[in-house]
Amino acid sequence: MTTTTPNHTVTVSGWAAHDTSGKITPYTFKRRENGVNDVTIKILYCGICHTDLHYAKDEWGITKYPVVPGHEIIGVITKTGSDVQGFKEGDRVGVGCMAASCLDCEHCKTDQENYCDKMVLIYNGIFWDGSITYGGYSQLIIADYRYVVHIPESLPMDAAAPLLCAGITVFTPLKDHDLVATPGKKIGVVGLGGLGHLAVKFGKAFGHHVTVISTSPSKEAEAKQRLGADDFIISSNPKQLQDARRSLDFILDTVSGDHPLLPILELLKINGTLFLVGAPDKPLQLPAFPLIFGKRAVKGGIIGGIKETQEMLDLCAKYNITSDIEVITPDKINEAIDRLAKNDVRYRFVIDIGAASSV
Ligand SMILES: NC(=O)c1ccc[n+]([C@@H]2O[C@H](COP(=O)([O-])OP(=O)(O)OC[C@H]3O[C@@H](n4cnc5c(N)ncnc54)[C@H](OP(=O)(O)O)[C@@H]3O)[C@@H](O)[C@H]2O)c1
Ligand SMILES: [Zn+2]
Ligand SMILES: [Zn+2]
Repeated sequence: MTTTTPNHTVTVSGWAAHDTSGKITPYTFKRRENGVNDVTIKILYCGICHTDLHYAKDEWGITKYPVVPGHEIIGVITKTGSDVQGFKEGDRVGVGCMAASCLDCEHCKTDQENYCDKMVLIYNGIFWDGSITYGGYSQLIIADYRYVVHIPESLPMDAAAPLLCAGITVFTPLKDHDLVATPGKKIGVVGLGGLGHLAVKFGKAFGHHVTVISTSPSKEAEAKQRLGADDFIISSNPKQLQDARRSLDFILDTVSGDHPLLPILELLKINGTLFLVGAPDKPLQLPAFPLIFGKRAVKGGIIGGIKETQEMLDLCAKYNITSDIEVITPDKINEAIDRLAKNDVRYRFVIDIGAASSV
């Protein structure tokens, strides 16, 4: 299924998955012409989020094939529409998960477009004109400027790309829980992957004691030495879990697969909050006892608004926070996705889209 409109005249080379094998192959498709509110962006880098893997393999049962994944997009503006404000040709810019929203509802009006009922995802979404959106595993994107952000000059473009999804997804819950400006709390991060390693960096930059809860003993040394984590708990170690019982104010769970919540909830202090951003395909079991005996809360959230994304990027420039990345050429996307599925990445693959012409 490919729904385009007559104004889809721009031919773009990209990479798409075509069935549940998730195998990514070169794919040429059409994008809309640059409208009055649009900017055209030559894509230079695109991160590989675990969400791309969920979609490529249709793990959530909602994929519209062919799917061109990618929502950690960084590039340079090559064209601007007549009504575009705040952007010009040559600007270094980023695009994250959103292509559009209604611009009129209470969420859009309060900079929480990510909760707009009509929010359109940057890929696998249906745009205003009925066309299916295609993401950043491609050489060019045309984006409404209201969903585009500036990349601060001091941030390298490749290592900044993952901030557009992984970064904002872990930043927003910290901000919502007053953990950006108020230091000295004890926070936990479950799962040390793309999202998790950025959560550790934010937690430390904002002055907190950070505990990683992980399935991977091999990550302990680098979590502490390179990322600055204070403690590291192996989630299968009952003694470590028992010793840390009721010790954390806030836990961010970034895990992509099925896992028990009970031991994680027991780590929270009374009144503590478990915030889920990971999106396993199967429902997680939520035990009542650790909630009622600990007055604990469980909630979740999706990415963050555009204004907050810009704020996060500016803070990253201030604190010198970027993602730890492994840069790959487009011909290695399948290898990277296989390694991501096996939890073998430190900590984000980023595709050097610009290398496409040389491979
Ligand atoms: N809410 C949102 O807006 C949003 C935005 C982006 C991504 N996501 C979702 O967040 C999840 C994580 O994305 P990511 O890109 O950070 O993935 P990732 O790089 O693969 O990291 C996930 C980490 O979770 C741990 N893990 C994986 N499977 C596990 C299992 N079965 N049990 C326990 N731990 C497990 C691993 O860490 P350890 O080795 O340390 O155990 C792994 O590194 C995905 O489901 C993705 O779709 C949500
Ligand atoms: Zn993502
Ligand atoms: Zn809206």
